[in-house]
Amino acid sequence: MSVDTQKRAAAEAAVDRIEPDSVIGVGSGSTVDQFIDALAASDIRIEAAVAASEVSAARLRRHGIEVRDANSVGELSVYVDGADEITRHLQMVKGGGGALTREKIVAAIARQFVCIVDESKWVTALGDFPLPIEVIPMARSHVGRALVRLGGHPALREGFTTDNGNLILDVRHLDLSQPIAMERQLNDIAGVVTNGLFALRPADELLVGTDTGVQRFT
Ligand code: A5P
Repeated sequence: MSVDTQKRAAAEAAVDRIEPDSVIGVGSGSTVDQFIDALAASDIRIEAAVAASEVSAARLRRHGIEVRDANSVGELSVYVDGADEITRHLQMVKGGGGALTREKIVAAIARQFVCIVDESKWVTALGDFPLPIEVIPMARSHVGRALVRLGGHPALREGFTTDNGNLILDVRHLDLSQPIAMERQLNDIAGVVTNGLFALRPADELLVGTDTGVQRFT
């Protein structure tokens, strides 16, 4: 079974988690694209969505789904998003697409975070995928030096600007064995907007598309 088929299976399983007439949060990435398409093709009609990226917002609108600003809604019933890595503790590395800050915001206002991934994202420990960190441009050098002091090897994501007008540093070789402590430590560096560790707010439910069906973890 191809990775795309695994992503589609997880995405379709997430559609079952959506309450009709609710306002939901929608993340970003290729798995979420499949979720948006599967939701639009289903019988479920939602009231509106809050999107974590301009790309997802445009895709939702193309399907005729209303997109609302995060400030104009209360608590969301559910947030559906992918991940670059996720463990059995439902802690994640995210931000491969660069939308990590808005993803963290939309996740924060949702009661339930449903993560949808193909099998390749399911890992025993975080850290093979370089950790994305969104940085205010004037702090790039300062943050880079602080990351080196923590044992990381940061690389600027060339030619990329986030939806918020900032830069991304992709960091290899950080010790992510204590993800909650590391998430806090990285947030404490002046000039860091967000880091791609989602450990303080892990997913509530994980749907993994595999060759033998969708596996569910809570
Ligand atoms: C986007 O910024 C990321 O957090 C995505 O959730 C992640 O990169 C997963 O993307 P795919 O679904 O394309 O693998």
